[in-house]
Amino acid sequence: MKKIIASLLVLTALIFASCSGKAVYTAGTYTGEGQGHGGTIKVAVTVDSKAIKNIEVVKNPESDFTINAMKTILDRALKANSGDIDGVTGATETSTGLIAAIQGALAQAATGNAAAVSSTESAAAELKDDSADVVVIGAGGAGLSAAKAAAQAGAKVIVLEKMPFVGGNTNYATGGLNAAETAPQEALGIEDTIETFIDDTMKGGHNLNNPELVRVLAENSSETVNWLISLGADLTDVGRMGGASFNRCHRPAGGAAAGAHLVSVLDKAAESVADVRTDSRVTEITFDANGVTGVKVETADGSYSIAAKAVVLASGGFGADNDVVVQFKPELAGFGTTNAPGATGDAIELVKPLNVAMVDMEQIQTHPTVVPVKNKMITEAVRGNGAILINRDAKRFVSELETRDVVSEATLAQAGKTSFLMFDQGVRESLKAIESYAKAGLLTEAATIEELAAALDLDAATLAETFTTYNGYVASGADADFGRADMPRTLENGPFYAVEVGPAVHHTMGGVKINTEAQVIDNDGNIVAGLFAAGEVTGGVHGSNRLGGNALSDITTFGRIAGTQAAAFTK
Ligand code: FUM
Repeated sequence: MKKIIASLLVLTALIFASCSGKAVYTAGTYTGEGQGHGGTIKVAVTVDSKAIKNIEVVKNPESDFTINAMKTILDRALKANSGDIDGVTGATETSTGLIAAIQGALAQAATGNAAAVSSTESAAAELKDDSADVVVIGAGGAGLSAAKAAAQAGAKVIVLEKMPFVGGNTNYATGGLNAAETAPQEALGIEDTIETFIDDTMKGGHNLNNPELVRVLAENSSETVNWLISLGADLTDVGRMGGASFNRCHRPAGGAAAGAHLVSVLDKAAESVADVRTDSRVTEITFDANGVTGVKVETADGSYSIAAKAVVLASGGFGADNDVVVQFKPELAGFGTTNAPGATGDAIELVKPLNVAMVDMEQIQTHPTVVPVKNKMITEAVRGNGAILINRDAKRFVSELETRDVVSEATLAQAGKTSFLMFDQGVRESLKAIESYAKAGLLTEAATIEELAAALDLDAATLAETFTTYNGYVASGADADFGRADMPRTLENGPFYAVEVGPAVHHTMGGVKINTEAQVIDNDGNIVAGLFAAGEVTGGVHGSNRLGGNALSDITTFGRIAGTQAAAFTK
C-alpha cells in the first residue's frame, strides 16, 4: 500500500518559473530526508538550472490519510520553486518531515545564487457552479460511508471536505467498531446479543440516549461489519472496551488501529464512485420553501455553488475547539483534546438558518487515557487487553473498564489529576496499536516492576504488591477491590511498561437532531426536506456518555443509512 502511495506522490512542474539569467541550481536529481510522524521521509528532487522540475517521495512511512497533505506540500514547493513553504494544518509532523526533506535536497542543488526564482503563477482556476444528486459535507468516516452508500444506490455524489485530507477524527480512532451478532464474533465463539449491545449503550449513556436510534445502531451493526468487509476491511480481531458486557469491538488482526484502516478502505470505496474534493469548505446550505437546494463552497481559488437534491451533513463534532466546548461545558476550559483539528463544530452555524433542532449539546466526553500536553490518546483497548491504572500511591483506584465518565472522574480525583497506565509484555504483544506508542517514545520501559516504580518515583514495594494482588484477582476471576468484570491476563511477563495519562476532550455527544432514517429534524418537529446527517455532528445516539467503540459503529451505520436515504430522496 505504502509503495503505491509513494509512487503517486510525484509532482512535475507544468509551468515554468519566471526567472533571471543566473543559474540558481546545478541541474540534476538530489535526495533529501526529513523526520515525519511515522519515520524518515525521503524525496528525490529534480532541478534544471532555474527551477524544480519534479519531486518524488521515494520513501513514505506516513499514514495513508496524509497523502493529500503531502500532495499539497509538493504542489506548494513546485509553485514557490523553493522549500521555504508552509506546512499543512492537521498534518504538522508529516509537513515538517517532508519540507525538511525537500529543503535538504534543494540545499545540495543550490548554486549560491538567489535561492528561489520568483514563484510560478498558475492561471486562476475558473470556478464553475456544479450540480449533483447528493452533496456530502465532510469526508470523515461518516461522510465517506454516506458517499459510498448514496453512490451504490445510484446517486451522483460530490463530497466536500474543508481540510486538505480526508478522514477527520476517524483517522485517530483506534480501539475499534462495536457490533453484535457478527460473523467475526461467531468465528471467535463470542455469544453477544443485539439486546445486550442496546442495554450496554443505554446504560453507558445514562439513558439519555434516544432509544430508537440506539436500536438502529445495534440492529444494523452486523450488516455494517459485513458491508465494510465487502469493501476490503479487516475486522477479525474482536476485543473489549469500557462498559461492554462482551467482546464486541471489531478491529484489524492483531489489534491494529481501526480508524486509519477504515479511512483507507472507505476513501478508496468512495473515491471510486464519488467526486471527493478536499480544501473545499461549505459556507452555506441553500434552501427554498420545499427544502434544501444545495450548498455554497469556498476554496483557495474562489467560491462556487452546487445545486443538489439532497445534502448529507457529516462534518463532525466540535471537540477540537475549546472555545466552543466551554460554551456548552465551562468546566472543560483548558482541557486538551484528542480531536483532529477540523472538528470545530462548523455545523452549529451552518444549520441555524434552517431552524434545525440541536440536542444534548452540553454532553461532552473526556477520554481518560490521553498523554498530557502531547494530546496523544492511548486506546481504551490497552485496558481492554489487560492494562491497569495506578495512582501516585502506586495503587489501583478504579475498575479500569468502567465507562469513560467514571474513569475520568476517578482520575481527576487523584494527586496530580493523572495516573499511570501500566502493562506487561503480554499485553503489548496482544495489541499491535501499542507499537505506535513505543515508536513515538511514549512508554517508560523497565525489566521489573521495582525498576518501573523507580523510574516513575513510586514506592516499589507498594507497586509490586499492587501487581501481585491484581494477578491474584485475575487468577480467581474476581476483583475484590473494584469489581472489574473482565481481566483477560495476568501482568507478570517483563518488560513492564507505563505511560502517564489523564482526561482530555474526546467526543461531543450532542448535535443535530435526526430520526431513525437520518433525516434532520427542525425546532418545530418537522423533517427538513432533503437534509440528512450522520456521525458526530448528530446528537441522541450516545446520551450523556459514549461507549468506546460506538463512534466507528455510529458513523458507519448512520453514514450508510444517511447516504442510502439521501439517494432514495432524490428519485
Ligand atoms: O480508546 C479508544 O480507542 C477510543 C475509541 C473510541 O472513542 O471509540
